[in-house]
Amino acid sequence: MPIHLNTAGAGLMPAAVVDAMTGCLRREALDGAYETETRYADTLEKGVYENLASVLDAPVEDLALFDSATRGWTSAVTTLSVTSRDRIWITPYEYAGSLILWTELRRRTGVRIEVVPLLPCGDLDLDWMRSNIREDVTVVSVPHVPSGCGIVNPVEEIGQLLAPWPCLYLVDACQSVGQLPVSVRDIGCDLLTGAGRKFLCGPRGTGFAYIGPRLRATARPPFHDLHVADMTSNDTYEVHTGSARRFEYAERATAAVMGLDAALRHHLRHPPAVCGPFGETMRDFVRAAVGELPSTRLIDPGTRHASIVTFVCDRVPARRLRDELSARGVAVWVAQGSHTPLFMRQEGVEHAVRVSPHYYNGAEDIDVFARELRAIIG
Ligand SMILES: Cc1ncc(COP(=O)(O)O)c(C=O)c1O
Repeated sequence: MPIHLNTAGAGLMPAAVVDAMTGCLRREALDGAYETETRYADTLEKGVYENLASVLDAPVEDLALFDSATRGWTSAVTTLSVTSRDRIWITPYEYAGSLILWTELRRRTGVRIEVVPLLPCGDLDLDWMRSNIREDVTVVSVPHVPSGCGIVNPVEEIGQLLAPWPCLYLVDACQSVGQLPVSVRDIGCDLLTGAGRKFLCGPRGTGFAYIGPRLRATARPPFHDLHVADMTSNDTYEVHTGSARRFEYAERATAAVMGLDAALRHHLRHPPAVCGPFGETMRDFVRAAVGELPSTRLIDPGTRHASIVTFVCDRVPARRLRDELSARGVAVWVAQGSHTPLFMRQEGVEHAVRVSPHYYNGAEDIDVFARELRAIIG
């Protein structure tokens, strides 16, 4: 079996997730999809939201499910009303999908987009934030852990810093949920999004969002689907929930939601194995193994790091390293500079090798990775 070191792409699903999904699909094939949905209604309408609420430390009514993290993010962000008088703060670690959305919002509204500067070590300059925040900063967007490197941004501290101000605070937790403790209450954000398939080890095609009351109060979703709205006459309709589920679409893959629920329960049952010291240790082993090779450069900004290590090698391009490691039974991935473009462009990185161990990896996996990497690079 290959050694999987690509959790930042998609984690390995535990047996409980596979069983929940295949069990659901079998039922759908035997009994029909709508009949199966009725059978699992308790989980689909209630249990999965309660489990997500426990994982994110968030109120149930503020949670919505989507088919990706990006869908959750865009479903909420596109409802924001901003004008050319507003300023939006992003960071050099912003995910490219979010940048596309900000760029489009600026084209349509003239809103100003400003990038929070970094300290020489790569940490966000929180003093700059403290001294420059004003009433006209209406949105602040921070990734907890970016796509292209393992820095952990201090989202709780930023939340405290922003608390006295009226701005909406948005946190992309796609790469952190499942590997770091994530508490919406401690962060104090208005939006937090994530994907099921990464460090939570759920299925592809699942994403979620915490959409807080402050954001919901001003948001104008362009559409409400039939799980939350009814036509009350030929030309009027009524939305019968104020909850974050207003942002969802009604149709979804039942098996995927059942798989997400199983992943959340698995995570809740085994939190010490997936959060904190264990993952950090594996990360340190990877970092040490890469760091001792003369022709490699770690892309490792910041003072706090999650279980994602990226590096470039001046002898072997990242894609070839990925393919050769794969041929030797070690699965790593290529982080595209264009996915975290502001930071990676500044670092001059188009492609980097990304190694992201999780609770299922042991020191012996990292030893094999290190041995094969040395053999390839020579
Ligand atoms: C930091 C970050 N944000 C957002 C996303 C988007 O997630 P999704 O592909 O589920 O839309 C990714 C995906 O890799 C990511 O790494």
